[in-house]
Amino acid sequence: MESGNLRKAKLRLLEDPALKGLVLRSGRNEILFDLDQDGNADVCVSDESGNGDIDTISIDLTGDGEFNLYLHDADGNGIPDSVLYADDASDQMEVLAIGSEVEQRLKDVAAHLIGLLSSDDFDSSEVTFSLNELAEYLKKDLAELIAEVQAIVNPSGIERIYRFLNDAGVYYLATVEGDQPRVRAFGTALLYDGRLYIQTGKVKSVSRQIAANPKVEICAFKDGAWMRLAGILENDDSIEVKQAMLDKNPSLKSMYSADDDNTQVLYFKEGSATFCSFTSEPEVVDF
Ligand SMILES: Cc1cc2nc3c(=O)[nH]c(=O)nc-3n(C[C@H](O)[C@H](O)[C@H](O)COP(=O)(O)O)c2cc1C
Repeated sequence: MESGNLRKAKLRLLEDPALKGLVLRSGRNEILFDLDQDGNADVCVSDESGNGDIDTISIDLTGDGEFNLYLHDADGNGIPDSVLYADDASDQMEVLAIGSEVEQRLKDVAAHLIGLLSSDDFDSSEVTFSLNELAEYLKKDLAELIAEVQAIVNPSGIERIYRFLNDAGVYYLATVEGDQPRVRAFGTALLYDGRLYIQTGKVKSVSRQIAANPKVEICAFKDGAWMRLAGILENDDSIEVKQAMLDKNPSLKSMYSADDDNTQVLYFKEGSATFCSFTSEPEVVDF
């Protein structure tokens, strides 16, 4: 039976002519909103547990009419306890490991929605105002929020390359020495100020080879996919970046320190990465 705050929310939305237009469809366990009036649902509030209370908010991140972000409030306190992302490519749901700032904003959006739609002391003038405000809030803040979440979920350019290297853990770095290719295992990767850094020791042959010819190539493999990154490295003697690199890789601290003569960090001045797998077309990312 339909009861609880989902029903109240529906009545409120459907009673108000100004707001009716935002509701695309209202079913037994859900209300679908079309905020940009393109005929597709952008946001859905629903009662997944079937107890009459709104416990889930689904958001269409891509604007293609498919929901891919789910905020689920299992304990009913109005704050989602899980944030799930449905990956269209792999058809998998994953729990987003999102940054605390974005997470807080997701919670704010969800708390705002749940709060407005389930408030008990219903006053139609106030609710009209509140729901209009909600519509504005969703259109404006949600758009920003979606952009932030998309950047995390679907990073572009250098972020994507960094994430691949970082998640792979180990990659192979090729340099040239005269007419002889040299390749070795590497593991360091840091994204600092929008630049992708690797670390080595100035005493190593690899460092001397890069100084003579900064053109390098990297290959990394992860979960059936691989990435080849060809680019030009540039030395950076900034103590801050070296320290950030060592902080990210504490095991290096027994061999290196940010102010020694040996520690070297280098970033990709330019490059081109190709993401490949046996099942999809190669994707090239230039930076
Ligand atoms: C898993 C793994 C990760 C490594 N990561 C790095 C690294 O990030 N930086 C580095 O200088 N050496 C790293 N090494 C060590 C180098 O592979 C090794 O020092 C190599 O000999 C350097 O190349 P070179 O002899 O041409 O100078 C790593 C080794 C392994 C096995």
